[in-house]
Amino acid sequence: MSIVVTGGAGFIGSNFILEWLAHSDETVINIDCLSYAGNLSNLQSLQDDRRHMLKVVNINDRDEVAKILDQYQPRAVLNLAAESHVDRSIHSPAAFIETNILGTFSLLEAVRAYWNELAAEEKKGFRFLQVSTDEVYGSLAAADAAFNESNQYQPNSPYSASKAASDHLVRAYHHTYGLPVLTTNCSNNYGPLQFPEKLIPLIIHNALAEKPLPIYGDGLQIRDWLHVSDHCSAIRRVLEKGRTGEVYNIGGNSEMTNIDIVRAICALLDQRKPRLSGSYADLIEYVADRPGHDRRYAIDSNKLQEEFSWQPLETFTSGLEKTVSWYLSNAAWVEEVSNGDYLQWTKTQYS
Ligand code: NAD
Ligand code: DAU
Repeated sequence: MSIVVTGGAGFIGSNFILEWLAHSDETVINIDCLSYAGNLSNLQSLQDDRRHMLKVVNINDRDEVAKILDQYQPRAVLNLAAESHVDRSIHSPAAFIETNILGTFSLLEAVRAYWNELAAEEKKGFRFLQVSTDEVYGSLAAADAAFNESNQYQPNSPYSASKAASDHLVRAYHHTYGLPVLTTNCSNNYGPLQFPEKLIPLIIHNALAEKPLPIYGDGLQIRDWLHVSDHCSAIRRVLEKGRTGEVYNIGGNSEMTNIDIVRAICALLDQRKPRLSGSYADLIEYVADRPGHDRRYAIDSNKLQEEFSWQPLETFTSGLEKTVSWYLSNAAWVEEVSNGDYLQWTKTQYS
């Protein structure tokens, strides 16, 4: 038995594969084109592990994907490959259309052809799991109820619009062709191996480098934070027990403003690695707001909790402490991923 994971060299994908192989001996075929966000060193501990097979392939390459499916006969395909950074989607949306929409379409076509040829029993048991985001639901006002699975899609950024389009394709392949799909919509993840373009690793990285800590706009935007290990356990649960054609929201019940997050990181760093003088919070700088910035996301994950008794194991406090510790112990990883592309990106975005 095997499963295919696309985007397995990225932040969530690599955490997922590491967690999967800690719980199971089922082979994982990792299809990843190694974009700037894909990093082989995330999976270094699996270098000699035959249960993990990396295929450096773009999900847009339907023929190569078809060959992999034919060769390994997976019982499931989990689609995590994506362009994932909202700010990059504002600067350069084309890559988001290319991977998130056309890539998902191409992958679905390869999977549909493969699935059609399976014997009846395998066909019934097969799953295509689409890993999506809460951002497809748009933005909430302060008093609004958290997003549940029947909220309307109202994406506001090129990133969330491209994810919404791919979710719609997944839904349509179920409705039209009967492909057994599952979709998860998750809130903001944080934890080890996250590329330092995203808020939490960026703030830790900048603070340790004594660089400004950029807060967009008034810093009072709200996100619902979930430790990546809890996202991975929820995906495993949905894959195992989810009803095909259904959508499952995944969240951390942990709404925080951006400024509170940044202050919490500074307080932890002040304890663990004090500056020569003053607090890391002295580095906070308010900068221009993100265009079209969504004000608040919050996820209602009651469906997942009630159907599968899933609960996040980390609180935001425990998860953030572990994350800060991980970055303090893995400075070399951050240095390694801060390559030319990353330096160019920070120059474009923050100068
Ligand atoms: P990431 O940017 O860290 O990793 C994406 C991975 O996909 C990289 O390894 C990259 O090389 C690979 N990839 C990109 N384009 C590809 C292509 N065309 N073909 C093959 N591989 C390709 O992203 P992440 O944060 O790990 O997110 C993974 C998935 O989870 C995405 O679909 C994202 O939308 C979704 N998601 C992320 C979050 C979050 O907070 N990070 C929350 C909810 C949902
Ligand atoms: O909600 C799920 C989504 O969370 C995922 O689908 C995306 O892939 C993931 O990138 C994330 O999107 P956000 O835009 O919410 O994450 P980001 O870390 O980029 O920003 C979090 C908040 O912090 C957001 O309100 C913008 C703000 N921010 C971000 C950066 C990088 C800052 O104030 N300063 C910054 O420098």
